[in-house]
Amino acid sequence: MTIRVFAGVDQGTTSTFTGLYDEAGRCVASARRRSVTSHPHPGWDEQDGLALLAAIEETVAEALAQVHGAELAGIGIANQGESVIAFDRTTGEPLSPAILWSDRRAASIVEEMAGNVQRGQVEERTGLPLDPYFSAGKIAWMLRNLPAVREAADAGRLAVGTLDGFFVHHFTAGAAFVTDPSTGSRTQLMDLDTLEYDETCLAAYGIDAAMLPRIGDTVFGEPLPIRLGAPLYASSCDQQAALAALGGIDAGDVKVTYGTGCFIQANAGPSPRRPGNGLMPTFAWSMGQNRAWAIEGGVFTAATAVDWLVSLGLAPDAASVSALADEGDPEHGPTFLPGFSGLGAPWWRPGAAGVLAGLRASTGPADLARAVLEGVANRVADVIDAVDKEQGPPEVLRVDGGLSASATLLRLQADLCGRALLPAVNKDSTAAGVAGFAAMGAGELDLPALAARASFHPPIEPRQDSGWREARRARWRRFVDATRGLDP
Ligand code: G3P
Repeated sequence: MTIRVFAGVDQGTTSTFTGLYDEAGRCVASARRRSVTSHPHPGWDEQDGLALLAAIEETVAEALAQVHGAELAGIGIANQGESVIAFDRTTGEPLSPAILWSDRRAASIVEEMAGNVQRGQVEERTGLPLDPYFSAGKIAWMLRNLPAVREAADAGRLAVGTLDGFFVHHFTAGAAFVTDPSTGSRTQLMDLDTLEYDETCLAAYGIDAAMLPRIGDTVFGEPLPIRLGAPLYASSCDQQAALAALGGIDAGDVKVTYGTGCFIQANAGPSPRRPGNGLMPTFAWSMGQNRAWAIEGGVFTAATAVDWLVSLGLAPDAASVSALADEGDPEHGPTFLPGFSGLGAPWWRPGAAGVLAGLRASTGPADLARAVLEGVANRVADVIDAVDKEQGPPEVLRVDGGLSASATLLRLQADLCGRALLPAVNKDSTAAGVAGFAAMGAGELDLPALAARASFHPPIEPRQDSGWREARRARWRRFVDATRGLDP
């Protein structure tokens, strides 16, 4: 008997995960490869582009090998968003490492841009504040600092952009070099209204559109033949694929994905919207004329901070950090600002770093673990407060991602946000979402049917009252303000 499946590849920061989904959306097989991130300088986060390609190929093959009689009907690939790579468009050979979204090396470029006369237009057209998080500054940095990239640019051989373009170029043997608007909206080069590269933004960063992937659709009109065993039907930024798979297809629906960083998105409906309150707009998905936008806030440090505790030897793994945190002093422990990669929404402090305050001789590992989880939950609550101001409070928060396995974190989150969390049964919503997009491309699914596949554990209700919450949040905001003086 054959089982018809669509593959969803989540090429994420921490790992590459491929899930195979049957006609009912059940994950029938999966495979994962952890990624290796190097930090050649403080604030630099790099991965090897060829290793990412190998991880995609290997996880697709490994997942397929688990299902006897699997018929792979199509593939969708989700990417890390703002992360970029440069390569030679004639040979496909990488000319740079993959410079990750969390990498801060473009800080000096962004500082220069702050004085640029076109700054206002760049922010208005893309809807994005200046920050080294976005792709444009990273690409400008490569053009200035990597001789191989500059030479290829001068010779007209340079291809550069978000990782999706690199993947598609490689898997189509150079036949296609495309991105989609959900990823394009993270570059700070795409006009949010036209979904085209904007000349003013390109000029401000010194980037030529000919170097960049063409912006197509999230769900392709025509599938691309690729050498992974089935056609590529869809390519998407990871967070938006997760939003769809978590059922967030109606305006106002909110999801929180706890991964390397933690990304909160609210569906904003079928028209572009430039939010205030420190939130950013992002394109959600496109299937021909059927389009959606979202508003987003990113907490750039989440699982990274938990992994940091593991690297210090405080606990053997992330699950143990969560258990340890449960033993921490809930009232008199230290306070931690998860700022390893600066602070994103709503504060946008690119120079911020992590801060640990309130240490005593009695502070132990459990108190530190609790401080880290509470710091992440407070940063998420900062974004949720901004979402509340922007569109009114969402009743529930749909949550997923590896770190959402921490019951301690979710308990803190529900209490600090004062509303129920709906934890997804499937913690890998991104892969399920992009596999669903692929099935849509093949005409075998629609968005409501994808959303209807979302299933949740019973809600986690807040237990603390509003007095507790307000006092706790006010103390946190005073702490965040006090750390401003430490930014360079
Ligand atoms: O903006 C970066 C984000 O999309 C990366 O997500 O899951 O790879 O940590 P993830």
